[in-house]
Amino acid sequence: MFRAPRGTQDLLPEEAPYWRRVEEVIHQVCRRYGYRLIATPTFEETSLFVRGVGQGTDIVEKEMYSFEDKGGESLTLRPEATAPVVRAYLEHGMHALPQPVKLYSIISIFRYERPQAGRLREAHQLNVEALGEMDPALDAEVLCLALDLYRELGLSGLSLQLNSTGCPRCRPAYIQELKRYYLGHLGQICSDCQLRYGKNPLRLLDCKVDRCQPILAGAPNIRSHLCPECAGHFVQLLKYLDLLGLPYTINPRLVRGLDYYTKTVCEVWAPGIGAQNAVGGGGRYDGLARELGGRPTPGIGIAMGIERIVMTMKSQSIAVRPEEPPRVFLAYLGQPAKEAALRLSATLRAAGLSAICSFGDRSLKAQLKQAGNSGAAYAVILGEEELKRGLVTLRDMARSQQVSVEIEGLPDRLRPTEAGNV
Ligand code: HAM
Repeated sequence: MFRAPRGTQDLLPEEAPYWRRVEEVIHQVCRRYGYRLIATPTFEETSLFVRGVGQGTDIVEKEMYSFEDKGGESLTLRPEATAPVVRAYLEHGMHALPQPVKLYSIISIFRYERPQAGRLREAHQLNVEALGEMDPALDAEVLCLALDLYRELGLSGLSLQLNSTGCPRCRPAYIQELKRYYLGHLGQICSDCQLRYGKNPLRLLDCKVDRCQPILAGAPNIRSHLCPECAGHFVQLLKYLDLLGLPYTINPRLVRGLDYYTKTVCEVWAPGIGAQNAVGGGGRYDGLARELGGRPTPGIGIAMGIERIVMTMKSQSIAVRPEEPPRVFLAYLGQPAKEAALRLSATLRAAGLSAICSFGDRSLKAQLKQAGNSGAAYAVILGEEELKRGLVTLRDMARSQQVSVEIEGLPDRLRPTEAGNV
């Protein structure tokens, strides 16, 4: 028997109320902040991610689902949404719009990762991006949006982690300093860190292996190496966050797995969902548009993992509204009544009512059992004799009461009212 591919999962109807709630809140909150919906293709040219996310990153080196299409072009299932959104901004000349341009999308991302709780090969994100503005007040607004969203969903105990990883002007000197420091400790660090030392030294900072911790504790702090512009940006951001009353933790070891970040980087951590506890992550990427061959355009954004948000909601026992049951279930006896039931179900739906119809030729008892299981408030029973007089039986499922009513007036009669309908 086939199974869903490793690291992917089916969204089953029982889970749907959580997703529906998350999506509802996403649209509400994004609208409140002036974000507009954008959807980019599921796949892009491979080089968009190689240049955007960065050649030396785990995503590009190990995790991309890349393939050659029948025309010989190398394409990649998007492992993230920021590079595609910047590509779309440049392609559609959005610099001509009032800036910043604020865009959000709900998307799936694809990464060939080692699956574990909260880490999937196909995951879903809310991605928000604000392009065309340098002001740190915009960084603060993006963070505020993210925290509003989590709060609106009822999540608690979250922690906003913040850092600045500088810019191409100040970061290289810091990296040199970091490497100089690690040079004296190369024999003591883990094998991954030995690789990081050569390939992606900033990632030395987020090693979780025990034996690296004492060395990390003495590592130089990036904040004391920021250029005046980056340092000023960070100080202003903290000021705006204080002004908005948003609590944060400055984490000098926070670095991100994508190369495009400049200045602000952030993550939001949630308690109780295990090692993969980042429910969101993002930052500023002022050099990305230029890296992609476009006009220099600053940007800031954050993406939030929907599966991890749902996991956190469950671990915090946050209740969600169950799916609404149908208003009415149509049962029938005999072929002419079945045809009338099909017509009636169309009429009821056209009147905006949710109606589900029986199929096959089950006994009335079996059909009423189905009606009960469906959670419908009412069953309408169509019988041949009654129909000849324009009548059907309307049964209030909760009260087990039934009356004979005219088929004509049914849509009005079934519309919810304060007093009930039978
Ligand atoms: P990211 O940190 O790679 O950033 O992903 C953002 C969030 O997506 C994570 O915090 C996590 O909640 C969720 N996520 C990522 N990968 C997985 C996975 N394999 N399984 C489950 N959830 C996952 C980005 O993607 C950047 N594009 C964010 C950004 C937007 N930066 C600027 N703008």
